[in-house]
Amino acid sequence: MDGNGRWAQRRFRPRVFGHIRGSSKIKPIVREANRLGVQALTLYAFSTENWSRPEAELSVLWRLLKKYLIREADELDRNNVRLRIIGESERLGSDVHAVLGPVVERLSKNTGLQLNFAVSYGSRREIARAARLFALDCMNGKRSPEDLAKNETLLNDYLWTSELGALSDVDLVIRTSGEKRVSNFLLWQAAYAEFVFTDVCWPDFTLEHLTAAIQEYSSRERRFGGVSAPATQNVWPNPVPQQN
Ligand code: IPE
Ligand code: MG
Repeated sequence: MDGNGRWAQRRFRPRVFGHIRGSSKIKPIVREANRLGVQALTLYAFSTENWSRPEAELSVLWRLLKKYLIREADELDRNNVRLRIIGESERLGSDVHAVLGPVVERLSKNTGLQLNFAVSYGSRREIARAARLFALDCMNGKRSPEDLAKNETLLNDYLWTSELGALSDVDLVIRTSGEKRVSNFLLWQAAYAEFVFTDVCWPDFTLEHLTAAIQEYSSRERRFGGVSAPATQNVWPNPVPQQN
């Protein structure tokens, strides 16, 4: 969800104004993703590198996250959405945990859209952590290094996304704000993802932009390193309903 700061600065407003406007876009996008039949949606809300931002900006970001969770828990539950946090949850403040814990618990039985907030998330840290956990399992005899040689996907079980199972493989990454970088996001999981880059900053990202990105995705041929597949292979699980 990139571009909040620049969106605000272009309007001669403080960066946090962009975060406030940006956070208001989460609700409609989540609702629409659910309606379109998206099975898993991960929002990159805060990276491990974002900790270097000024304290005042950080406190607004945490306040907005808590506000979102408090406001939206009912609707998410009604819509059968399950919520997870991926990232270094141990670095989040006790105030964030106090709000987050009960909401995650409340939605934990839901089977619809699997909504993930990447918070204090960094993919290199995630992979390094997975390697460490795997090594520990080798030391205590639960695994052997050869297991990984036979089946590289074993490492999935050690990532923050492990609970998502097959859904942890990313189909589509949408990056807003004109940047054309991966920025330490789901490096392992997005190995064969399609990327859609848009110049639109996150506070201006609408349902139409989402639909357009999914349609762009649907028109791509995914070969996964193989040869041409039948043209129908890449149709979105559910046809994109017409807007009215
Ligand atoms: C939002 O956009 C992403 C967050 C870290 C909350 P930015 O704050 O990165 O906005 P830009 O990139 O400075 O415009
Ligand atoms: Mg940015």
